[in-house]
Amino acid sequence: MDATYSNKQVRLAARPVGLPRATDWHITTESLSSPAEDEVLIKTLSLSLDPAMRGWMNEGRSYIAPVGIGEVMRANGIGIVVDSNIAEFPAGMHLAGWYGVQQYLKLDRTGLKGAAMRPVDTALAPIEKWLNALGGPGMTAYFGLLDVGRPNAGETVVVSGAAGAVGQTVGQIAKIKGCRVVGIAGGAKKCEFVVKELGFDACIDYKAGTLREGLKTHCPDGVDVYFDNVGGEILDTVLTKINRHARIVICGAISQYNSTSAIKGPANYLSLLVNRARMEGMVVFDYAPRFGEAIQAIGGWMKDGRLRSLEDVVDGIDAFPDTLLKLFNGENFGKLILRVATA
Ligand SMILES: NC(=O)c1ccc[n+]([C@@H]2O[C@H](COP(=O)([O-])OP(=O)(O)OC[C@H]3O[C@@H](n4cnc5c(N)ncnc54)[C@H](OP(=O)(O)O)[C@@H]3O)[C@@H](O)[C@H]2O)c1
Repeated sequence: MDATYSNKQVRLAARPVGLPRATDWHITTESLSSPAEDEVLIKTLSLSLDPAMRGWMNEGRSYIAPVGIGEVMRANGIGIVVDSNIAEFPAGMHLAGWYGVQQYLKLDRTGLKGAAMRPVDTALAPIEKWLNALGGPGMTAYFGLLDVGRPNAGETVVVSGAAGAVGQTVGQIAKIKGCRVVGIAGGAKKCEFVVKELGFDACIDYKAGTLREGLKTHCPDGVDVYFDNVGGEILDTVLTKINRHARIVICGAISQYNSTSAIKGPANYLSLLVNRARMEGMVVFDYAPRFGEAIQAIGGWMKDGRLRSLEDVVDGIDAFPDTLLKLFNGENFGKLILRVATA
């Protein structure tokens, strides 16, 4: 039966200078008709809000093309097929992929491939988990820690952004692998959660200004692996505590993403030389062919009660511009998700 769908979309109106402002966004509504032959109509359920979105708003060369002015903002998410003329994607199927910040998508076979749409089994785990520990952040944590950080049992692993999406899973996997794990997070509440609920050995509240002393107290044998989500001064301080042959995983540098001046690089990089240490960047997309391996491992640990996945869910597509800012002021507690609709 023919139907018309009203599709609200959040488009990039301008390239932000510093933190994104309301005027950097333009909210539009388009009308979508029922899918034609060989097309599906998918309803967006939940979107992953990622610090990387800030980078995608900038002009310039990166690991992925920038979002163009006037385009729908890029976002990963999960939705449900509501009307289908493609047998392999029947109505009721949940799909993960590139949705963009919009309520609906109508795609043909080429579009489904381009948006990397793949089925997810919501009977195995709820949508939020597929956007967190079983999704991009979990994949980043798993491969960043195990392939790049290569921790050995008994070593000390430090992770910043410890209560966040990637950080929480990094620390828990490092514990499972038999390491001493020290988190770095903003505020007493997050630190308490990281230790009491996630089982880290310690967590340092960098906002209390005690990072240097905290590292001295909680890493008495030095730092073997530092998983860096934040860059800036925190990276510089941890560099003063690394051990010989330490591995530093450059996952992100959120402290620098809204900088209006030059990005602050590590002044203490010669510590790498002195300690014969390695600092290496990673991009999760490179590991896509191996995601199944990580999903199996993380899913198993979740089932055994050894790994938790905490999300922070905000409702409504209109809330996108304000909600994104939570990542940069530390208001999000766990993986930040925008729930656009329920099934
Ligand atoms: N390389 C990859 O393939 C890849 C993939 C996914 C994510 N990432 C990166 O991983 C990092 C974490 O992403 P996520 O999705 O897990 O986000 P998240 O940790 O859930 O949220 C961001 C957190 O960053 C912290 N933060 C914000 N501004 C900060 C500052 N100036 N200094 C220190 N901490 C600050 C805040 O926590 P506090 O309250 O603790 O300050 C905030 O809650 C980001 O840098 C992201 O770009 C990389």
